[in-house]
Amino acid sequence: MSVAKKDYKRITTKSLIEMKANGEKISMLTAYDYTMAKIVDSSGVDVILVGDSASNVMAGHETTLPITLDQMIYHASSVVRAAERALVVVDLPFGSYQSDPREALRSSIRIMKESGGHAVKLEGGKEIKESIKKILNAGIPVMGHLGLTPQSIYKFGTYTVRAKEEAEAEKLIEDAKMLEKVGCFALVLEKIPSSLAKKVAETISIPVIGIGAGSGVDGQVLVLHDMIGMTHEFSPRFLRRYMNLYEDMTKAIGQYVDDVKSVDFPNANEQY
Ligand code: KIV
Repeated sequence: MSVAKKDYKRITTKSLIEMKANGEKISMLTAYDYTMAKIVDSSGVDVILVGDSASNVMAGHETTLPITLDQMIYHASSVVRAAERALVVVDLPFGSYQSDPREALRSSIRIMKESGGHAVKLEGGKEIKESIKKILNAGIPVMGHLGLTPQSIYKFGTYTVRAKEEAEAEKLIEDAKMLEKVGCFALVLEKIPSSLAKKVAETISIPVIGIGAGSGVDGQVLVLHDMIGMTHEFSPRFLRRYMNLYEDMTKAIGQYVDDVKSVDFPNANEQY
């Protein structure tokens, strides 16, 4: 049974702000291809994130850094073709926005024009303020991303919880306020203490969507392949696995191999 407070035919950035105001939590999941996005969209997920986690999940890279803008546009256009209800947010990949605001705008325009995505997401705070303003001025909705920002993994050195120290927590709050002030429609907070995430969600009026940031925020996001247990090596504490597809698929595919080898497949009804 759905616990949604209002039936939205199509989720927009405005719907998300309305959900926060009505106390309705926002559900967000990643997807990178048409078939998965079709399932995610028809399951009632509010926001589909074409995350640069595609670099890990789809391409097998260790970090999110190698994925290119062209590859993100390919993934995003497949997802957009599937999404009838969800808002589709697309990550700007590493190297496509950090050098200057004009580059950030050019990359965002390419995403919007070539994939049909509805908004872009960028990692960072005041360092990228001018880029965010430039993108917003062109009429492109922007989602922020603070806390653990995987594109900066080589600066952090580890994927451990961020903003445990006061100075980093204060900077994060200032960055969140700035993102709200310049006009971002929502913000992702990744892997920070739940008390800090709650404080941010209570301080700013735009929706705060958490991953490893506790229940005091306005919504949750997970990487689809982790949540359905297709990946199995990655087990952070914040992850809830709803299925164990790695095991189920391995069994099913193993059975297929046996059936082919033993000529059990195809049987008389499975041929012409
Ligand atoms: O790329 C991604 O999947 C993300 C989420 C973890 C928020 O940015």
